[in-house]
Amino acid sequence: MRKIPEPGPTLLSRKYSVTMNRKSLSPPREVILRNVVNKDALLCSLSERIDKEVIEKAGPKLKVISTLSTGYDHIDVKEAKKRGIHVTFTGEVLSEATADLTFALILAISRKVVLADNYIRQKKWKVGWSPDLFLGSNVYGKTLGLIGAGRIGRAVARRAKGFDMNVIYHNRRRLETKLEQEIGAKYVELDTLLRESDYLSIHANLNAESTDMMNESKLKRMKNTAFLINTSRGQVIDERSLVKALRKKWIAGAALDVFESEPLETNSPLIKMENLVLLPHIGSATYQVRSKMSEIAAQNIIELLSGRKTPFMVR
Ligand code: DGY
Repeated sequence: MRKIPEPGPTLLSRKYSVTMNRKSLSPPREVILRNVVNKDALLCSLSERIDKEVIEKAGPKLKVISTLSTGYDHIDVKEAKKRGIHVTFTGEVLSEATADLTFALILAISRKVVLADNYIRQKKWKVGWSPDLFLGSNVYGKTLGLIGAGRIGRAVARRAKGFDMNVIYHNRRRLETKLEQEIGAKYVELDTLLRESDYLSIHANLNAESTDMMNESKLKRMKNTAFLINTSRGQVIDERSLVKALRKKWIAGAALDVFESEPLETNSPLIKMENLVLLPHIGSATYQVRSKMSEIAAQNIIELLSGRKTPFMVR
């Protein structure tokens, strides 16, 4: 495993002999392939692709693959299951923190927070208050469209109440009426969501259906004053289409915490665009959440290697 926040490493080292990359960087692929051989458990993160090759290399002793993440699209779950290997995740501990960051992005893109901050740092603020300096868009009273109404989507909807937003959502399965009422969100077809949202925020899992879901045709259906927010997985948006949409002003801007390829290529056209806020995948990055994720990821291994159960199994 790579170096992760405490208490996971200590919990594991007390019981087992642990091979850990001392740096918090992902180990190179060849190091993973070398070190996974004959291990009973593998603790990984979403930056490491745990595919058939890694699983095969580990050999028959491998019983658990525990990821320090809620998403597990980087693991070949089918291959693991075929070999009787348990795959675990960190559950929903990051939902509220990710919803907080979604709102940070909504506010940052609508009110040009990052551009305005840079303006002062670059010593460009020469006159005081000015009537047309960094004019942005209202958040209060606007329509927020959610693609995905799992825990994170619902946590975002609850925050939107405080901004008196009109919340609409689209999900594979419609929520129960009671839950809809509790979060104050109305179910609509995807096409309506695209057409009516002032802020469209994605909270979908990555799978075959959601990959490249936000393509040219969908971006074209959005309002040209709308903002696209993504804190889920980068592959849900076709980035080439997004660049086109931003250049051609089909939409007003986007705020992204996740990208098709991470880290974002330094020559990505996104970096030069002004109507964007870019964050380096920090949705769950609070001390409290990362420490809880570390504890759960380690505990998942301990429970399963001890023949007990954990509620955080990937089914
Ligand atoms: C996850 O856990 O899936 C997030 O993307 C990173 O914490």
